[in-house]
Amino acid sequence: MPSNPGKSFYVTTPIFYVNDAPHIGHAYTEVAADVLARWHRQRGENSFLLTGTDEHGEKILRTAAANQSTPKVWADKLVEEAWLPLLETIDIDNQDFIRTTEPRHERNVQKFLQHLYDTGFIYRGSYEGNYCVGCEEYKTEADLIDGQGDFAGISVCAIHSKPVEKLQETNYFFKLSEFTQPLLDFYEANPKFIQPESARNEVVAFVRRGLEDLSISRSKEKFDWGIDIPWDESHITYVWFDALLNYITAIGYGEESAELQQKFADLWPASVQVVGKDILRFHAVIWPAMLMAAGLSPANQVFGHGWLLVGGEKMSKSKLTGIAPNQITDTFGSDAFRYYFMKAIAFGQDGSFSWEDLSARYQAELANGFGNLASRVIAMVHRYFDGVVPEEFGLEAVDLHVAEVAKAAAQNADAAIEAVAIQDALNSIWTLVDELNNYITVQEPWVLAKSPENKERLATVLNTTLEGLRVLAVLLNPFIPKATAKLWAALGDSVGELATQQIQNAGNWGQLTTGVTLGQLEALFPRIEAESETK
Ligand code: MSP
Repeated sequence: MPSNPGKSFYVTTPIFYVNDAPHIGHAYTEVAADVLARWHRQRGENSFLLTGTDEHGEKILRTAAANQSTPKVWADKLVEEAWLPLLETIDIDNQDFIRTTEPRHERNVQKFLQHLYDTGFIYRGSYEGNYCVGCEEYKTEADLIDGQGDFAGISVCAIHSKPVEKLQETNYFFKLSEFTQPLLDFYEANPKFIQPESARNEVVAFVRRGLEDLSISRSKEKFDWGIDIPWDESHITYVWFDALLNYITAIGYGEESAELQQKFADLWPASVQVVGKDILRFHAVIWPAMLMAAGLSPANQVFGHGWLLVGGEKMSKSKLTGIAPNQITDTFGSDAFRYYFMKAIAFGQDGSFSWEDLSARYQAELANGFGNLASRVIAMVHRYFDGVVPEEFGLEAVDLHVAEVAKAAAQNADAAIEAVAIQDALNSIWTLVDELNNYITVQEPWVLAKSPENKERLATVLNTTLEGLRVLAVLLNPFIPKATAKLWAALGDSVGELATQQIQNAGNWGQLTTGVTLGQLEALFPRIEAESETK
């Protein structure tokens, strides 16, 4: 269960390699985590979304040097020019942004390391293995495949399709092997810890084969862009060991102040950690073992989502299939971006992106299905009732049915989000969009408006549809916050601020105050000119 009864809802995204250019794969992880955070906030919970950047390691050192810069200055520039703007582009409401070069992170990574060293979980040893710089990870034989093209005849990393480097190192090791059984016991006792089910099975099978100790430092003779090992300054911390700790250093781990200690107690363990399936093992194996070694609880859940595929391949900058999020939002807007990726792909499975599918869904589902519904209803209230919310004069079975669909939509969507089934949540909400469109088609308010004796029935029909729009605004707010804010403004201030509307009450009928005057509603999802539809 991702929720933590009586506690805050804490959700994290992976921290992004600062060196990469943000693409829609990164944005996908962000949007999913943001939707979960906003939904729980809309339930009235103290919801906290953390994201940030992963700034140490050899890759960033090399690119900074190639750009005649120092790694910190280079990272500052990338955070300012690429990563913070990404959050604006896709409308992320994060409560914090952690950078692994910040003092609050560095000093507490050292504290954590020292603690594990003092308690015997870290020792000095030597290791030889195949290292992939792209993954920043040692690879086993099973992780390698036969190379193609330039690399034919040699083994390459299955993820990066590039050769691995044979490394022989003397450095510090974390006793990961000691956690094979404790992790298996933990998975068994917490069957929802790794989701989805297929990901869980894969991780459990991997751990059952037995874990090896993990090299967690690098000699400074090779490169020195990282956090010093506190008891041996000739070594720096392995970048993944450093990066994983962001989830606790950002919320006060290791800090002295009472306020931060309280914050840590409130937020940890995280409710759900959203990661791409390529980095699931780090989060579902190494990370919980690190926490167990330090006497801390693992997160409640790690959710491994699928990949965005472009032309059938994992979209990535290095394979030149990367699409920048603003290529989409410049034309379609951030709401459409958020909606599209959450609705078109089952969260947890791979999904293909195509401009055609995006355009088609924008037009059919957002512009026609939802946007037109809202503007037609509000326009009719202006036309037939001078913009004043009409009262209802006795609900008939068809009207009560709309109320029932609304209630079920709210309950089912809430249950789906609890299960991190984000697409199912939108499908549940869309049952109400479809119901309202059908209801209007059958009730024909424009026909009722022609005869004065039908005035009361017309009032009831428009009151019912306005109630339906109110429910939609609340349920869709975590997904398409810009459009719902506009709709809410048009619904008038008859039920208070949108932010205070709780999901749990959204399906209760009859909350709009009659007699209140509605605002005007601009087109929520305007028509997009044909030439920009197909890029
Ligand atoms: N820095 C590490 C994470 C450290 S977390 C302690 C990292 N960074 S990353 O920038 O490469 O990836 C961040 C996230 O973006 C991952 O969840 C990854 O799966 C996601 N994606 C990158 N490309 C993707 C797709 N094509 N599709 C979906 N998500 C993908 O790994």
